[in-house]
Amino acid sequence: MSLLLLVLFSLASLTAAEIRHADIRNDDRPIIAFDEFGFTHHGQLELNITQLSFSGPPNPDTSILSKLGFFLCTRDAWLHVLQQIEDAEITCALGSDSVKKVFTFDALPNPIPTEWNLLYPETDADQYTLVFANCLPQLKISMNVRSAMYNLEGGKSDRRDYLSAGKTVLPRVYFLFSMIYFFLAAFWISVLYKKRLTVFGIHFFMLSVVVLKALNLLCEAEDKSYIKRTGSAHGWDVLFYIFSFLKGITLFTLIVLIGTGWSFLKPYLQNKEKKVLMIVIPLQVVANIAQVVIDETGPFGQDWVTWKQVFLLVDVVCCCAVLFPIVWSIKNLREAARTDGKAAVNLMKLTLFRQYYIVVICYIYFTRVVVYALETITSYKYLWTSIVAGELATLAFYVFTGYKFKPEAHNPYFVIDDEEEEAAAEQLKLDDEFEL
Ligand SMILES: *[C@@H]1O[C@H](CO)[C@@H](O)[C@H](O)[C@H]1NC(C)=O
Repeated sequence: MSLLLLVLFSLASLTAAEIRHADIRNDDRPIIAFDEFGFTHHGQLELNITQLSFSGPPNPDTSILSKLGFFLCTRDAWLHVLQQIEDAEITCALGSDSVKKVFTFDALPNPIPTEWNLLYPETDADQYTLVFANCLPQLKISMNVRSAMYNLEGGKSDRRDYLSAGKTVLPRVYFLFSMIYFFLAAFWISVLYKKRLTVFGIHFFMLSVVVLKALNLLCEAEDKSYIKRTGSAHGWDVLFYIFSFLKGITLFTLIVLIGTGWSFLKPYLQNKEKKVLMIVIPLQVVANIAQVVIDETGPFGQDWVTWKQVFLLVDVVCCCAVLFPIVWSIKNLREAARTDGKAAVNLMKLTLFRQYYIVVICYIYFTRVVVYALETITSYKYLWTSIVAGELATLAFYVFTGYKFKPEAHNPYFVIDDEEEEAAAEQLKLDDEFEL
């Protein structure tokens, strides 16, 4: 556990967030993509290049250096550039008129300096990627690049907003959701107090899941607002990763525990159910480390794709694994309903577990697939809407789980005497008529 926190710490302090530092050594890649950012009409790009040096042709003369430089490019424009290169209209991306040239190296004074600073205003609002192009095949370049992209708040003022155009409302969104979860936690405590005679261990576990979710969102709000103001993450991101790690583990454990019926159907876990937990918890650890690396390296980091795949794989395995205990419970209840006399009560439990199974699948499907689809189809300006949709789905899932498994004296899932059995049978009959 402490080892994991150490890993999280060291990873989190590796890189700054929206201000990026890239170290390029003896690189002859023709295209190097740095970072993507949504500009408003008052955007600016700051480039600081240090330790600049070339190797390859001795003394590259300044005229060919126009084939070396930085540009900004939207995704659509990039497709167009690729088409142009394929049609042999141009040989270098810098030659296309669909890209916005930030600066080419022929603008450097002679002799070429080792350091260079640049401020580039971007007034066409859009989502751009910062790209470096090297169209000189024999030339290798070394440099340290610090890039900072931001929007000026309210246009002329000096206040910088380092969050991309579609993400600038995120601190407020996360804060709002964290308040909702704190409210839910307080409400849950009051429920537990009122129904203290029928409270089970699982209900306290639910409380801890809600509190962790609230803390996680609060740290994410603070982290994002810190990045918004300074361009770098500091301190809060570590807390955020710790809470999201704990939240991930407890949420999956909770789904498994509820699925097995632990503490309200039976006081113990079967061996195969323990095995599910033993698979899910370490996988959540891996998923969280992957998430940290993904967040910190940005989409153009070298290991980004690998870690993204690791994350997706682990996530899919976890999501499938948590469904097994629910399926086992459904099977057991179905058999119990057939064999013992308490058929109606068992059938109601069965209905509940079936509902829960469907809701868990919907929750997983929505937060993984639908949110991803929304993210892909919405314009960069409304990127936050997919995050809100995901959080709303999560909230609905928490509320459903709390409501359906709340502590209650007359909850049919906990009763065993004959009177209750009759009541349950009556209720079922009513339900059936209602459905017909
Ligand atoms: C980077 O370049 C900008 C624009 O010229 C300059 O204002 C800023 O001070 C530079 N930052 C560093 C760390 O050199």
